[in-house]
This record gives sequence, C-alpha cells and structure tokens, in this order.
Amino acid sequence: MNVALFITSFLFLRAQCAKILGVFAAPGYSQFILGEVLMTELAKRGHQITVISPYRPKDEPPNYKTILTKEVIGDTNGDDSLWNLESQSLFKNIMSTYDYENGITEKTLQNKEVQELLQSNEHFDLVIVEQFFNDALKGFSAHFKAPLVLFSSMGLTEWNREYMGVPMLPSMNAVSYTQYTNRMTFFQRIRNLYGTIFDYLYRRYFFYPVQRKFLAQYFPSSLDFDKILYNASLMLLNSHVTTSENTLLPYNMVEIGGFHVINKPLDKEIQTFLDGATDGAILFSLGSNLHSSDLSQDTRNAIFQVFAKLKQKILWKFETDLPDKPKNLFIAKWLKQRDILAHPNVKLFITHGGLLSTEEAIFNGVPMVGIPVFADQKMNMARAKSNGVASVVSFSKLSEETLFEAVNETLKNPSYRNNAKRLSSMIKDRPIQPLELAMYWIEYTMRHSGMTFKPSSLYLYWFEMYMVDIACFLLINSLVVFLVIFGLMRICKSKKSDKQKKQ
Ligand SMILES: *[C@@H]1O[C@H](CO)[C@@H](O)[C@H](O)[C@H]1NC(C)=O
Ligand SMILES: *[C@@H]1O[C@H](CO)[C@@H](O)[C@H](O)[C@H]1NC(C)=O
Repeated sequence: MNVALFITSFLFLRAQCAKILGVFAAPGYSQFILGEVLMTELAKRGHQITVISPYRPKDEPPNYKTILTKEVIGDTNGDDSLWNLESQSLFKNIMSTYDYENGITEKTLQNKEVQELLQSNEHFDLVIVEQFFNDALKGFSAHFKAPLVLFSSMGLTEWNREYMGVPMLPSMNAVSYTQYTNRMTFFQRIRNLYGTIFDYLYRRYFFYPVQRKFLAQYFPSSLDFDKILYNASLMLLNSHVTTSENTLLPYNMVEIGGFHVINKPLDKEIQTFLDGATDGAILFSLGSNLHSSDLSQDTRNAIFQVFAKLKQKILWKFETDLPDKPKNLFIAKWLKQRDILAHPNVKLFITHGGLLSTEEAIFNGVPMVGIPVFADQKMNMARAKSNGVASVVSFSKLSEETLFEAVNETLKNPSYRNNAKRLSSMIKDRPIQPLELAMYWIEYTMRHSGMTFKPSSLYLYWFEMYMVDIACFLLINSLVVFLVIFGLMRICKSKKSDKQKKQ
C-alpha cells in the first residue's frame, strides 16, 4: 500500500473512532439539552465520549461516560429570585453574570472526579467546551494537547466575537443584555457603546484574573491563560438567521441553530388533550430556570383572568398543584415543549424568550407572546418582534390588560402566524441538516488535527484593529504640517513688516 494512502486511512480511522471530552458545565438544564444532543450523536457515531456536566442524558449510551458535577445546580445568582433581574441595569447584569459564573467554574474544577481525570494519563483526540463565562475550562484542551472546539448556546455574542476574531462594532452589534436588535437608533447606539466598553473592561480586568487564577490552581500542568483564550479551532453557534440576525462570520464559526429540535411522539394524555383542542391550544412556559410557582399571587391571578377569557385550551408548565385552576387549563411540572409545539392545534406560545424556546417556536411555526426577564431573553424577543412573529409584554408591566391585549393581537392578527410559518419553512430548508453539519465540522477538526488559520484580527491590538493608532498618527502629522506652515507664515510676515519699518 502506498504510504500516503496508509497514513490518510489511519488518520481517517482515528477520526472515525476518537476519544472526545465534552465540558458542558453550566447549571441551566436547557443548555445541557444542547450538549446532550451533540455528545450523544457523537457517541452514536462510535466515538468514545466523556462529558463533564451537572446532568446525565436520559438514555446514556454505553460508550458515553458522565462526570457528574451536580454541586453547581441550585446556586442562586446571589439574589433570591431571578425575577428581580428583569429590572437590573445593563451594567449590573454584566457584572453579576461574570461573578456568578466564576463560582460555577471553580466548583466544576474542584470536583473530585474532575481532578482525578486531570491527574490521570487519559488521552483525548478532541475537547469540546461550552463557551459560557468559563475560560479556564479551555485548559482541558491545552492539558490534554487536543484541539479545541467551542460551542455557544447563545449564538454570536460580544465575547465569542473576541475569541474568534470577529470585530465588535457597537454601531451595529447589540450587546446581549440589551433589548435591541442590530438596527439601533442614535441613543440606543450610545447606550450600546457604553455596554460594549463596560463589558470588555469588566471581562478583562475583573473576570479574567479570577479565571487565570483557577487555571493555575486546578490544572496540574502549567498553562498559559492568554494563549488558551484564543486557540479554538472551531466554534459551533446555536443560531440561525431566522432566530438571530444576518451577521458576518469567519469560516470556522458555523451556525447549527435548530439542531436540537428532534420531535418525538407525545405522551398519550397530552396528545388526547391537544387533539381535543378544536379551538386551538396555547402553551405557557417560562423555561427551566424561572419558576411559575414563584410568581406573585397578583400576577398569577392576572394570568388566570386572561386564560378564563380565552376559548383555547392551555398547557402551563407549573411546578406545584393548582387547586382553583380554570377548566381549560392543563398543568404539569415538566412539559415536552418541543413536541407540544409541533402539534398542529397549538396556535400560540407564551414564553420567557430563551433562545431554545424561540428556536423551537420558529422551527414549528408557532407565534409567540414574549415575557422576557433576563440574560439574552429581551434581545431574542426584540428580534422575534422585528421579524413579526412575536408580541412582547415587559414583565414589570404584566397585568390582565397588557397580557390579554398581546395574546389577542397575536392570535387574531394573521400576520404573526404567516410570518412564523415562513420562518419555519426557512429554518428547515438547509443544504445539510444542522446536527449533521455539526458532526461534519467536529470530525473535520479532528481529521485536520485542529485548524490554525487565524484571522488577522487576532494578531492586532484593539487600537490597531479600530485604526486608532493610524488616526492618531495622521492627526499628529497634520498638526505638525499645520504648525510648520503657520510658523513659516509668521516668520515671512514679520520679515515683511521689518522691511516696511526700515523704509
Ligand atoms: C492551540 O491549538 C493547536 C491546534 O489544536 C495546538 O497544536 C496547540 O498546542 C494549541 N496551543 C495551546 C496553547 O493550547
Ligand atoms: C382582538 O384583536 C383583534 C385584531 O387585532 C381586534 O380587532 C379586536 O378588537 C381585539 N379584541 C379585544 C377584545 O381587544
């Protein structure tokens, strides 16, 4: 056999059955679902999978091992209720997220089994990390000398831009915690500029020092934080133009939004309930982090009053029992949201506007009423609203009137449903299905043992990239030229007047 052919087939076989470490450390269950779909799919393809995560997959394949870090679950944001985050300022939002996630990173690295793994002689061909305010965890890639693939559950964000070398222009890239789309008014652009600068400075001078310390403290090998920060070969983004916006991406940032929407048959009880919803059905869910049972009595009553006025049947994800619930209401602790949204009788989704929920609604062509509270929810809903698939009610203004108005408008005005159907057909119409695309790129990265084509922006300081140095240089140059000309003119003038005086 020809040597080159031998080597290629050897490399190919190695990529065919590789050892892959996944690090999905975030305590949010919806983020875990994304990791679960990606990593179990890799297991199905025959790879040996190890995943560090606070949850386990429902059906763990035999070649899939979980290192469980469940101690990260249940940490609150230092605040008793996530609901309070709704009214937090942009700056406070940025700071509290970084500080909170520092705690998660440390707990993950302190885990006994994680430490055992780091002390072992284990070998990995690839490390996949969920990029989520946890940069020290990129150390797994450098420690095991394996290429790094990042996965962003939030799509393209200001920090992801930095790691992959995509310039962040505050004029057209809204910060994740704003309620803006990328098309901003003058005053929104000013606030967005403040947000961008504040986020950059806080990350650099308050967040990185802590992550740098974790890297030195918890990894047995000595690793260079500044090098691992920008060393990902590939970043997979949980986004698609229909759920986010049209933006510029380098070749190694790949959008796979919608990859987790794999609809399964419904439980019999819910199937019967929805089949019987001849006037349509509404799904009400505030996601896995926010608890409907924590809503104040007033808010809960307002929601009940709205439901009582509707002829549609309603499914509500509610964590406790409700003795005095209206007749058209079905409650359950956990609802299979993806599958329910796929039922043709579901006409509306009342949601907190998390990215997964938004994607699932758009995938299934269901219009939304958004009640966004924190993180990227306001932005997701602003985008959905500008695409004409959602009405938005601010949580602080939630009342019987505002909610009913939004629900009625979204149900009665056919444009919402039509737009949702249009986006649904677009997100499904792809040259290659997104989960398949993700697999292709992950295996591609292994076949080429990490890609090293870095964009030039990663070699420049920010003031070089935004041409501040050139602007200063040109300004000083013009100033010098101006001063020289001005000086010469003064000299000439004084000589002339000297001559005149002498005459
Ligand atoms: C960066 O990634 C490349 C390609 O995977 C790898 O060869 C190199 O060792 C990595 N460097 C660090 C500091 O992790
Ligand atoms: C419900 O919405 C429709 C269509 O926008 C509107 O014509 C109607 O007046 C609304 N009904 C109420 C009670 O607000």
